[in-house]
Amino acid sequence: MSEQKEILRTEHLTIKFGGLVANNDVNIHLNEGEILGLIGTNGAGKTTLFNMLAGALKPTSGKIYYRGQDITGKPADKICKMGIGRTYQVVQPFTSLTVEENVMVGCLNRHRNIERARKRADEILEELGLGKHIHTKGANLGLPQLKRMEIARALATEPDIILLDEVMAGLNPTECEEAMELVLNLRKKGYTIIMIEHIMKAVMNVSDRIYVLNQGVVIAEGTPQEVSTNQEVIDSYLGGAKKKC
Ligand SMILES: Nc1ncnc2c1ncn2[C@@H]1O[C@H](COP(=O)(O)OP(=O)(O)O)[C@@H](O)[C@H]1O
Ligand SMILES: [Mg+2]
Repeated sequence: MSEQKEILRTEHLTIKFGGLVANNDVNIHLNEGEILGLIGTNGAGKTTLFNMLAGALKPTSGKIYYRGQDITGKPADKICKMGIGRTYQVVQPFTSLTVEENVMVGCLNRHRNIERARKRADEILEELGLGKHIHTKGANLGLPQLKRMEIARALATEPDIILLDEVMAGLNPTECEEAMELVLNLRKKGYTIIMIEHIMKAVMNVSDRIYVLNQGVVIAEGTPQEVSTNQEVIDSYLGGAKKKC
């Protein structure tokens, strides 16, 4: 990448749950237009980091800067309005609402007018290949569609940065390839992305740069090539990571 403009940064970000230090002095940065991979074993603290970036959890100490502005501890709705959107690892659709209505809820963040929210929801769903499911109830969607709807809901809030938390988990290889293409397309459209993912083929092929978390600590940072040949990463994570696309 030629010119790199930083959009998000954490400094000494730390969060404790009682005696557990779930993120310990985490210093990461994200450049505009980048796809950043975040990997690490279960319990490493990846989702917790997303929760702090999105304002769902307040750090115990440390700072988060978005476009140079200190956003540490700001509430989730403010951070969402500022331009950081997210998906949830555990997908929680409104099961009795249609796919269109689920996405409209996100759109209402920006559009007070219900018909404009509906129009925007339909556009997003069309773009994500869910056009034919708009009237399906959330409860009746299969996993790949649910994961896509989760991304649609994040896009509905009109973010600049999207935090994707294991959106490929549980997908079969074909669906996973499609999801990789989708992530690359999102970047082409101008979104900046942080992606938590266990599926190594996806992380390695799609990410520009990767951070590796282990027990709340960043143990490595670099290109997919650099990270995948880092001995500490191999020992703590890659040696045990079996998930392939
Ligand atoms: N709200 C919370 N309260 C207490 N402990 C939590 C909370 N959220 C996460 N944890 C703990 O923090 C650690 C990191 O969890 P998490 O961020 O979900 O890991 P990952 O997403 O990398 O699998 C785990 O030990 C988890 O049990
Ligand atoms: Mg997680």
